[in-house]
Amino acid sequence: MGRDKDIWHEPEKFMPERFLESMIDFRGGDFELIPFGAGRRICPGMPLATRMVHLVLASLLNQFKWKLPTEVQRNAVDMEEKFGVTLKKASPLYAIATPI
Ligand code: HEM
Repeated sequence: MGRDKDIWHEPEKFMPERFLESMIDFRGGDFELIPFGAGRRICPGMPLATRMVHLVLASLLNQFKWKLPTEVQRNAVDMEEKFGVTLKKASPLYAIATPI
């Protein structure tokens, strides 16, 4: 669903800004986007997650300067996927954090 060309413009592109003016509700009401599932099996951790993701991300950006290893900077981040019980990156992301 997340990669359906009939629903999303350039679905393969990482474009978080596509949601800025969007009315799509991520809380299970709109089936185009269901990061926490929907219906009776919807993620019960959603209220905690939606608060903590912002807090953790903001803390990491506020406290550290981030950069990619030189080789990754040169070749760009490998977005290849590996399918299993969950979908994960084929090659793990390494990011170098320096305390500010
Ligand atoms: C960004 C963070 C999170 C995301 C994206 C996420 C996403 C999901 C998704 C997609 C499901 C499956 C829903 C379905 O089957 O339709 C799920 C289930 C579940 N999540 Fe989360 N989750 C997150 C955080 C959490 C947290 C913080 C907790 C607990 C503290 C949690 C507890 C659970 C549990 C217990 C289930 C199983 C519910 C069931 O099968 O009835 N999740 N989550």
